[in-house]
Amino acid sequence: MTQIERIEQPTREVFQNFLSPRKPVIITGAMKSWNALSLWTADYLNTVIGNTQVDISVSQNSLFTGNQENGFAKLRQKMNFIEFINLLQKEKSTDNYYYLQQQSIPANFPEIFSDIELPEYFDKKLLTDPTIWIGSGGNISPLHYDAMDNLFAQVSGRKRFLLFNPQQTSSLYPFPANSKIPHMSQINIDQPDFDKFPNFPKAKYFECVIQAGEILFIPVFWWHQVYSLENSNNKLNISVNFWSKPPISQFFTPPGRRSLAQIPAIMKRALKL
Ligand code: FUM
Ligand code: FE
Repeated sequence: MTQIERIEQPTREVFQNFLSPRKPVIITGAMKSWNALSLWTADYLNTVIGNTQVDISVSQNSLFTGNQENGFAKLRQKMNFIEFINLLQKEKSTDNYYYLQQQSIPANFPEIFSDIELPEYFDKKLLTDPTIWIGSGGNISPLHYDAMDNLFAQVSGRKRFLLFNPQQTSSLYPFPANSKIPHMSQINIDQPDFDKFPNFPKAKYFECVIQAGEILFIPVFWWHQVYSLENSNNKLNISVNFWSKPPISQFFTPPGRRSLAQIPAIMKRALKL
């Protein structure tokens, strides 16, 4: 296990020393001018977007495990944002965990879009919509990779990350390349079945905890498992993702090649062949 370096408000040139070799790093001090850091309390969000309908992932055991059918979470519920916040705040008395996962801020919550700032570290032309995650302590996003570079900005509460580089893929047992979740591992890494996944103990990983105001660079195809940590006085755990399309050279890593191998199946599904 290795820790991740922290750098204070790097210039774009300094960040390039991490972006080019796809090396994770934590950027501090770069969110000082975000209004979201002080504004995004439960009361404020309820006032501004309380009536917005949201699609919430539900888990009975805190792990938001995907399945072969529908990616991230098996159970989904639609509700008003204000009902979701109520559930989060009384969550401790129920068995369920609730998570608003990676929803586009400009498309779903335009009222709060101006509270965040696009980071200067990625080429603006390559960015996709920033997405928001809202939950509370205990939620776990299971081990997976994404096919884009990610600047993961923590707005409220803390998150713990375990990160595995793309070269570890053969020890991480992804679902089959032709499944709907080829980017997810079959292993519950907190309770691994060593008979089924004998190479898992060989996998090397990095670990870090980020807090409000810090940005973690997760390079494309790096595996990550994410733990929302408990926080005092029932504060929300809120993060914003900035995803950026990677250069084609990144598709020649082991997970990259798996992604390329999916293209015929994706086209087939799109064309309904
Ligand atoms: O739970 C999470 O914050 C997950 C983030 C990610 O997968 O990028
Ligand atoms: Fe991810």
